[in-house]
Amino acid sequence: MIELLTRLFSRSEPALSEATQRDAAAIAKLHAASFNRGWSEDEIERLLIERNVLTHRATVNGRLVGFIMSRLAAGEAEILSIAVSASYRRKGLARRMLDLHMGRLSGIGTRVLFLEVDEDNTAALRLYRRAGFTEAGRREGYYTGADGKRATALVLRRDLA
Ligand SMILES: CC(C)(COP(=O)(O)OP(=O)(O)OC[C@H]1O[C@@H](n2cnc3c(N)ncnc32)[C@H](O)[C@@H]1OP(=O)(O)O)[C@@H](O)C(=O)NCCC(=O)NCCS
Repeated sequence: MIELLTRLFSRSEPALSEATQRDAAAIAKLHAASFNRGWSEDEIERLLIERNVLTHRATVNGRLVGFIMSRLAAGEAEILSIAVSASYRRKGLARRMLDLHMGRLSGIGTRVLFLEVDEDNTAALRLYRRAGFTEAGRREGYYTGADGKRATALVLRRDLA
């Protein structure tokens, strides 16, 4: 009974921690399920071991259900990717990961955080705007969708305390 309750509780509250090289396969799988152009496991493994890349993961009973990854350079950072498993979306998990990630980036001296997002990605835009990001630029026709249509990328930025 206690074991069942523990499992149910941990299912509703994913644990956040820093990712390691061993998460490459699970991140590649979630990335492929979340974006038109997936990253190979090799690409992700290389990023995970880069000294200038910070990655956080969300897990439930050891299973990866979310990640966020940024590259750092000279007091600035760029979010390279963020994704949450479909069955864990709209529960505030991306916001929790983003808050932890921004706190950690700030703690290691990052003053400003950038990212690019498809202007049609309602979920991501809402997440970022609620977290204090503002528009810093536009790249017309930057993305190609699964249907071949071009879409505009918005460049967003947020100052970190
Ligand atoms: C974008 C993504 C990471 C959001 O993850 P999530 O855990 O569902 O987000 P949260 O539950 O933390 O929600 C954050 C905010 O976005 C809103 N939101 C989330 N999904 C939404 C949707 N489908 N439509 C509208 N708003 C949405 C939430 O309501 C919340 O806003 P609120 O605080 O005003 O209520 C997730 O949808 C995803 O993995 N998408 C595919 C990958 C992707 O597009 N990544 C972003 C690339 S830039």
